[in-house]
Amino acid sequence: MVDVILGLQWGDEGKGKIVDYFAKNYDVIARFQGGPNAGHTLYVNDKKIVLHQIPSGIFHENKVNLIGNGVVLDPVTLKKECESVAALGVDFRKNLFISERTHLILPTHRALDKASELSKGQDKIGSTLKGIGPAYMDKTGRNGLRVGDLLDNNFTTQYIKLRMKHQRLLDNFNFQDDITDWEEEFFDAIEFLKTLNIVNGEYFINEKINKGQRVLAEGAQGSMLDVDFGTFPFVTSSSTVSAGVCSGLGIAPQKIKDVIGITKAYCTRVGSGPFPTELSDATGDFIRNAGNEFGSTTGRPRRCGWIDMVALQFACMINGVTKIVMTKADILDSLEELKVCKSYLINGKEESRIPFQMNRLHIEPIYQSFTGWNTDISKVEIYDNMPEKMKTYIEYINHFLGIPVKFISNGPGREQIVTA
Ligand code: GDP
Ligand code: IMO
Ligand code: MG
Repeated sequence: MVDVILGLQWGDEGKGKIVDYFAKNYDVIARFQGGPNAGHTLYVNDKKIVLHQIPSGIFHENKVNLIGNGVVLDPVTLKKECESVAALGVDFRKNLFISERTHLILPTHRALDKASELSKGQDKIGSTLKGIGPAYMDKTGRNGLRVGDLLDNNFTTQYIKLRMKHQRLLDNFNFQDDITDWEEEFFDAIEFLKTLNIVNGEYFINEKINKGQRVLAEGAQGSMLDVDFGTFPFVTSSSTVSAGVCSGLGIAPQKIKDVIGITKAYCTRVGSGPFPTELSDATGDFIRNAGNEFGSTTGRPRRCGWIDMVALQFACMINGVTKIVMTKADILDSLEELKVCKSYLINGKEESRIPFQMNRLHIEPIYQSFTGWNTDISKVEIYDNMPEKMKTYIEYINHFLGIPVKFISNGPGREQIVTA
C-alpha cells in the first residue's frame, strides 16, 4: 500500500516537515521525481536540516529511504548530504537505497541550465540552476546516463560522448565558464555513489509492498510546477503530481491509497511566472518576513500572496487528493483581515477554472474576506482549542474543496501539528 504526500501549490508547502512527521507510520519513504532543486526543511532535536536529494524519512531509524527512478540525481549534492546526515548519526549505508534507473545530473547539465537561462533574459524561468531541465531533456531525448551505468566499465566513454554533445550546445550559447572544478567534484562523488546501495527500484519496492509494507511517496516541487499541468513554461521538468508516483517508482496506480495534499494557509512562489494572488505590498512583505519565506535551496526571497482556491481545486482534481494538510497557519496569527481567492476575473468574466496560459492573461482575483483570529496558535495542541475565526477559515476551505483539511501545522517544529 502506498500513500503520497505532495505539494498543491508552487512548492515549499512544508513537505519535508510533514513527511518527517508521518514517516513513523511507514516502512519505506521514497522520492519519485525532481532532484536537488528541492529543498525540504525539517527539524530534528531543534536542529534545522535541509534535504535536497535524500528522502525526508532518513532521520527515522530502520526506515528504508529510496531515491526512485523518476528522480534526477546530482552525485555531488548527494555525497555532501550523506556526509551531513552521517554527522547527525544517520546510518545512510543501511537506510538509503538508489534506483539503478535514476538519471544522473552531469556538470554540463548545470552549465546548460545556466546558459539556457542567460539566453532567455527577461523571459527566464527562474530555475534553481541545478541542471534539472537539461537532465530530464537527456532522459526523454534518450541520451542520459543512469546510476546503473556507473557500474559499467564503459562509463567514462559514455560520459565523454555525452559531454562532447553538451559542449556543442554550450558553444552555441557562447558559454565560456570553466567547469573543471565541477567535473573533479563529480568524478570524486561518483566513486562514493558506487559504494551505496544501488538497487533495481521497481522490484525492490514492489516486493516490499507485496509483503504488506507501507510506502510513503514524497513529492518535490508542487502541482502548479508540474510539467504538464503547471503554469507552463514557468514550471519544472518533471511530473510533480500523483501520476508521477507510478512512473517515478514503478508501482501500479491501484496500489495508491491516500493522496495527502499540502497547502500553506497562504501562497508563495519562487522564480518567474504567473501568480494571480501575489501581494506586492506591505501585507506581502509581512508574510515573507513572518514566514521566513526565503528559498531553502537558493535563498531567493519568495513571492507571497493569499491562498488561491481556483489553483487549489485544480490541484486536488489532478492529484485525486483525499486529505489536506494546511501548513504555516501560525504565520497569519496577527493579521486583522485574511483573504481567499474564490475565482478569477478575466476579460470582465468570472472564471473558476485555470486558464490555458495564465501568463498571457490579466487575471484579477475575486476575494472572500475573513476576519483574522489575532491569537497565537503556535502552542495549540488540539483542534477544539483553535480560535473560532480560524475554524471558520478552515471550514470555508473544506466546503469549497469538498475535501477535509485533516491536519493543521502551526509551527516548524516536529510535533507542531494539530489533527482536525
Ligand atoms: P518544502 O520544500 O515543501 O519541504 O518546504 P520548505 O522546507 O522549502 O519550506 C517550508 C518552510 O516552512 C521551512 O522553513 C519549514 O521549517 C517551515 N514550516 C513548515 N511548516 C511550518 C508551519 O506550520 N509553521 C511555520 N511557522 N513554519 C513552518
Ligand atoms: P521544493 O521541493 C519551490 C521552481 C524554480 C523555478 C522553476 C523551475 O523545495 O518545494 P528548476 O530548477 O526545476 O528548473 O526550476 O521551479 N522550483 C521550486 N520552487 N520549491 C521547489 O522545490 C522548487 N523546485 C523548483 O524556482 O521557478
Ligand atoms: Mg522547499
